[in-house]
Amino acid sequence: MAGKQMKLLLLVSVVISSLAVNVLTAPLPRAIKELSVRPPFLGLISAHSYKQATPFSDDGAFKPDPEHPYVDFSGRRFHIGTIGSNSVIIVGCGTGLVNAAATTQLLLDFFPIRAVIHFGTAGGADSSLSVGDVVIPMQFSQTGIWDWLKSEAAPQPDNGVADLEFRRYHIPIGGYNLLGRVAYMKEYFFSQTGEPDVPVRKFWFEASEDLLQIASTLEGIELDQCLNGVCLPKQPKLVLGVNGTTANFFVENAAYRDFLHSTFHVASIDMESAAVIMTSLSSGQQVIAIRGLANSAGAEGGEDSSESYDAIVAANVEKTVVALVNNIPSPRLGRICGKNRKCSA
Ligand SMILES: *[C@@H]1O[C@H](CO)[C@@H](O)[C@H](O)[C@H]1NC(C)=O
Repeated sequence: MAGKQMKLLLLVSVVISSLAVNVLTAPLPRAIKELSVRPPFLGLISAHSYKQATPFSDDGAFKPDPEHPYVDFSGRRFHIGTIGSNSVIIVGCGTGLVNAAATTQLLLDFFPIRAVIHFGTAGGADSSLSVGDVVIPMQFSQTGIWDWLKSEAAPQPDNGVADLEFRRYHIPIGGYNLLGRVAYMKEYFFSQTGEPDVPVRKFWFEASEDLLQIASTLEGIELDQCLNGVCLPKQPKLVLGVNGTTANFFVENAAYRDFLHSTFHVASIDMESAAVIMTSLSSGQQVIAIRGLANSAGAEGGEDSSESYDAIVAANVEKTVVALVNNIPSPRLGRICGKNRKCSA
């Protein structure tokens, strides 16, 4: 009797433990395991989803992997393949910081990744740049963490970076505004090299120097002015060395755009870049972001043209991404190093 009970107990425990294993492994597609032993990929995170279409289909630069052309996972499609001699995984993250951070973390946790390249469109905040220009900022800030202060006279909080005083935007000037003032606060940055659970307060998140250096060789790249009969007002150019900013709101307001530019010296406004950069840096990954200015974030004179340039700008961004990927040495050559930079193997 005791022997039978033991056997039953053993059987039950085997069933339970195999269930536990199944729960952990079943949702992971087999492809993820098979891809995990491949040489590492460049992770390309687009701010827009590709739906069922093949990424980079306009210029055919992306060649899907014959064995695993894509992996569907966690509600996202990870396209597997090559651009030139580099293996890439391309995924669309969708709008906003949560989607961007979650997609980046999934990519880094489940695939072997050697660098992250993020790209999409943005609002332009610098009047010296034109709609259609493609920017590769050296750093991004997250300007969506606010301390909404009790009163206009409240002191600037610790870790506050700047203020937005609503009263300053009254027309006619003067009076008092019940919305008062908000202080822009630094992010809480956790990283694998830092002490666990001890975040560093940080406002700017820098793109990786080696990738920026490789990107600098793209200066002067020929971008298209027209696509399918839609032409940008000016010949677009690639601009490096600027700042970008990210928050969970779409800016279509000239006064706020000018505030962001004059306060934080930013040239582009978007809803994902800072999250992708912060998440990548947190895991010790090299990362860079490329954004095409599809509108002027509300500063357009006359009718709103924010929709019409999306396709041509997105095409120029993809062109820039492909050129960058083609300038990154393949993994056989080891770690990604910018020219004239000392890199340990
Ligand atoms: C970028 O931001 C930094 C820090 O605020 C500032 O010192 C620098 O001048 C900015 N760069 C540009 C090109 O505006």
